[in-house]
Amino acid sequence: MQITLENLNKNFGSVAAVRDVSLSFESGNLVALLGPSGCGKTTILHLISGILPVSSGRILFDGKDVTDLSPDKRGVGLVFQNYALYPHMTVLENISFPLMVKKVPKKERRKIAEEFAELVRVKDLLNRRPGQLSGGQQQRVAIARALSKGPSILLLDEPLSNLDARLRIEMREEIRRVQRDTGITSIFVTHDQEEAASISDKVALLKFGETQQYASPRELYDDPANLFTAGFIGTPTINVLNGRLHGSTFHLGNSAFHLPFTADGADNKDVVLAFRPEAVRVAEQDAGFAAIVNETYPVGKDTLLHMQVNGDKFRMFCAEDEVVQVGQRLSLQFKDRGVFLFDAETGVRYA
Ligand SMILES: Nc1ncnc2c1ncn2[C@@H]1O[C@H](COP(=O)(O)OP(=O)(O)OP(=O)(O)O)[C@@H](O)[C@H]1O
Ligand SMILES: [Mg+2]
Repeated sequence: MQITLENLNKNFGSVAAVRDVSLSFESGNLVALLGPSGCGKTTILHLISGILPVSSGRILFDGKDVTDLSPDKRGVGLVFQNYALYPHMTVLENISFPLMVKKVPKKERRKIAEEFAELVRVKDLLNRRPGQLSGGQQQRVAIARALSKGPSILLLDEPLSNLDARLRIEMREEIRRVQRDTGITSIFVTHDQEEAASISDKVALLKFGETQQYASPRELYDDPANLFTAGFIGTPTINVLNGRLHGSTFHLGNSAFHLPFTADGADNKDVVLAFRPEAVRVAEQDAGFAAIVNETYPVGKDTLLHMQVNGDKFRMFCAEDEVVQVGQRLSLQFKDRGVFLFDAETGVRYA
């Protein structure tokens, strides 16, 4: 099922929770809604499922306007953040509940429920109650219950937030597998950029109810539309320096950095230079951009350096064969990728 959101708005009194959001979700894709707390992620899911009415705008499923259709007629399965399993029912009863509501005969109910239990790997837990399950198992049951309705769309609201770090990674891969196996168009809410990037076909990044960028995880990282996206995506966080541009030279105090590009509109303006920690390297000869090593942290095969230039700090990686000492002055140069320039006031990208 293909989903289109057209100029969607949702106000709660004076709070504009969703502002003019237009997004299109391709059939069979898994899309993440990503953004800080309060940016409108849950609200968008509730608008798509029909639990909440829109303030304005349209929602289309396969081109058909469902904006005013009641939730039970939309064919949407929703998994809430807290799973909301029925505590007095067994796993089997929980998963078959939507089928009971649909008046599916008992024998068939059991067969369908067992199939979904198998898909999410809880088939040996069918007689337990939610209180006797781990967080990860409850989460699987909640997904199976949402799927047993036979929805054309699956919406998942931060389904992994109650799990520990390791289980989160395992379960996100599990969600991706189930989504691929079933081919259901799915929207997955998270505020964890790494989680969003790791399993999604596309990511919609939101801030204050507005879309900042809607693109593949790779594109968000390599080609951020604005400073917010550049800063939100990537670990460690992108480095940010405030300075002034003259031609292809970035001036920061008395330092001048040669950039791998020019930016027409930005000449002689206050700009923000943002660069990924892997976008800078030690120069062969003096390249005019020097910084002092403040700290060194071994991370896996690389070393992360905390650097200082004038009063500003940034982070960069150096390879294991480079011996670097605290207090050392390094001459640096930028690589071609991962270096961006933004307007200091608006955050709009120049280059
Ligand atoms: N029923 C409501 N009444 C009034 N304001 C609401 C209501 N529901 C949500 N809001 C407001 O709308 C905005 C968006 O809320 P929403 O729950 O969609 O955010 P979210 O992105 O899901 O955040 P989180 O990551 O914390 O779950 C917030 O400012 C929130 O306070
Ligand atoms: Mg939420």
